[in-house]
Amino acid sequence: MGKLNVTLCGIPLDNPVIPASGTFGYGYEFAELYDINLLGTFSFKGTTREPRYGNPLPRIAECTAGIVNSIGLQNPGVDKVIAEELPKLKKVFHKPVMANVSGFSAEEYVEVIEKLEGEEQIGWYEVNISCPNVKKGGASFGMTPEGAETVTKAVKAVTKKPCIMKLTPNVTDIVSIAKACECAGADGVSLINTMYGMRIDLKTKKPVIANRMGGYSGPATFPVALRMVYQVYEAVKIPIVGIGGVSSAEDAVEMMLAGATAVGVGAANCVDPWASKKIVEDLPRVMEKYGIGSLGDIVGGAH
Ligand code: SIN
Repeated sequence: MGKLNVTLCGIPLDNPVIPASGTFGYGYEFAELYDINLLGTFSFKGTTREPRYGNPLPRIAECTAGIVNSIGLQNPGVDKVIAEELPKLKKVFHKPVMANVSGFSAEEYVEVIEKLEGEEQIGWYEVNISCPNVKKGGASFGMTPEGAETVTKAVKAVTKKPCIMKLTPNVTDIVSIAKACECAGADGVSLINTMYGMRIDLKTKKPVIANRMGGYSGPATFPVALRMVYQVYEAVKIPIVGIGGVSSAEDAVEMMLAGATAVGVGAANCVDPWASKKIVEDLPRVMEKYGIGSLGDIVGGAH
């Protein structure tokens, strides 16, 4: 069997498959369905300083090839995550986990990370500067090189753990944002978060989502995400987590050829909760079919 293992920011992964933040809860929910230790790791739900109910309902709209969400960073807040969610995770997951951190100011990202620093199981921080569903903070930091630099410098000043900045595709030039993160000391970038989208209800003739717009994800976004990973790989030296519409082991291999060291699986988990497991289990077949001996060797191979 070919070698599935890769190394992400110095931390070994048994395989490159990482369920994406917001589609996998705090992990233990999925452990009721299967042994989640077969994953490379996963990124837990974006966590903020305060508990958040999120945006008004409805906040999900299904589409032909994906989903528009406007969740609005619903989460119990960092204190409750530490007190209640992570202890449950520890019982069922025995690998380093990726902590997705969100905030409304650079100080808030810092405070959340400072609180999470005592959690040994956290291997990486995925710093979300790309949430399209909140008015303040969120994607606004990821929309300019200056904003991305400010948050990157702030979080890097308070932790030695790798910080992977999660980027929005809703910009003219994602490459300039990735470069700003790298220059400010980021250890990696993950891309892409969701693309602005909406649906209109033909019966009410009004937007389906209460917040009108949301973030679109799903298989239709794959070629866009792949293109952005390809472009960013040419511009930076730090590792990339490739996310966006990945639904099969073939997609995962394509992402790695474009330049991803590891691959996020998002919307696919909402369609089929076993999707990430199936991708891990199907990778050896796809590697054999395309003559790939080691996944670590193909990163950026399309360049
Ligand atoms: C949300 O909670 O609104 C989604 C998170 C994100 O897209 O970053």
